[in-house]
Amino acid sequence: MQNKKKFIRLFKPSFGNEEIIAIRKLFKKSWIGFGPEVKKFEESWSNYIGINYSVGVTSCSAALHIALASKNFKKRKKVLVPAMTFTATAAAALYCDLEPVFVDINEYDLNINFEDLKKKYTKDCVAVIPVHVGGHPCEMEKIVPWAKKKKLLVIEDCAHTAGGIYKGKMLGTWGDISCFSFEEKKMLTTGDGGMICTNSKNLAKKFRNLSFHGWNRDPWSRHNKSLSTRNLNEKHWYYQIKDLGFKYNMNDLMAAIGQVQLKKLNSFNEKRNNGVCKYLKGIKNCKNIKPFFKNFSNGIAYWMFAVRSKKRDKLISFLKQKGIATSVYWIPVPMHPLYKKYNANVPVTAKVWKELVTLPLFSDIKSKEINFVIKSLKEFDAKE
Ligand SMILES: Cc1ncc(COP(=O)(O)O)c(C=O)c1O
Repeated sequence: MQNKKKFIRLFKPSFGNEEIIAIRKLFKKSWIGFGPEVKKFEESWSNYIGINYSVGVTSCSAALHIALASKNFKKRKKVLVPAMTFTATAAAALYCDLEPVFVDINEYDLNINFEDLKKKYTKDCVAVIPVHVGGHPCEMEKIVPWAKKKKLLVIEDCAHTAGGIYKGKMLGTWGDISCFSFEEKKMLTTGDGGMICTNSKNLAKKFRNLSFHGWNRDPWSRHNKSLSTRNLNEKHWYYQIKDLGFKYNMNDLMAAIGQVQLKKLNSFNEKRNNGVCKYLKGIKNCKNIKPFFKNFSNGIAYWMFAVRSKKRDKLISFLKQKGIATSVYWIPVPMHPLYKKYNANVPVTAKVWKELVTLPLFSDIKSKEINFVIKSLKEFDAKE
């Protein structure tokens, strides 16, 4: 029998009538594939982030893959990635026949640790992928100049951030390339989806090619030319393939939703940040339950909230019984069988992940829901 208990969800996308109107328009037009809406969304995204070029893709995983593939690094070169991340960050290296090198994290924000990064660097490293975990910014002011000296490509994994500012500069504009996620749980959503951004015209061109089978002309411009009588001999159907590409392009349906969501992004971020503030205030006197980061800053756009508890598994069961959804972000990547052979020496990650619990946070979360989670956390803290 299915358990019908009503749960407070961990994440929940926020939609209104505006998204429905945007989708209806497209259905009427009967063009939902790659087309003008993608271009409009890419332009709005570039303006929002403050970057020259953005290419819409199917996911942040696809963006990370394209980011590394665009550089044609020699096989078995190495990519520095944090041990505490989602599998896609490290998988991007494997897709390109590169090897991940796992770097330990800071105990108090879960981000890549700069000292360990320097230690793990060898001459075989070609790229570094800092991940802004939960929206909390990595120390980009240290990582970027160091990586430049070492001639490393810097790819920001911005799956958990959109609109966050660090030291006066938007996250996603610090590195050479940035990769965003619009998957359903994220800061804004297009169902699934993502964006790959850069200030380099050449790289952007490469991203476009790789995201659509390696074609040197995108299907929308070919289609447009096929409908034009201005030059009847124009070979609108012609394209060349020089690179092995993928089918990773965003479509107009996703882009139409994305444009509406982007207009709401600042308000989503504000509401999530308010949620984080409530949590921090609510649990500040707990003895055994602590937030996963130390310092709150308003410029940061927080995507998730997690706490640490030595009795993590018991706490998860306790919250489940109360009807509160939780998760663990994450089981560190090198602890999965696929990645064991990369021999990660990451003691802080190994210790901290056992204490982590991700709690409900989304822009439409109600005060009474957060208050109930806080009350439950306090109850657990007092009795355990
Ligand atoms: C840090 C990180 N990078 C990349 C991804 C992949 O994002 P997507 O689901 O859009 O492929 C995720 C997904 O949650 C993530 O958490």
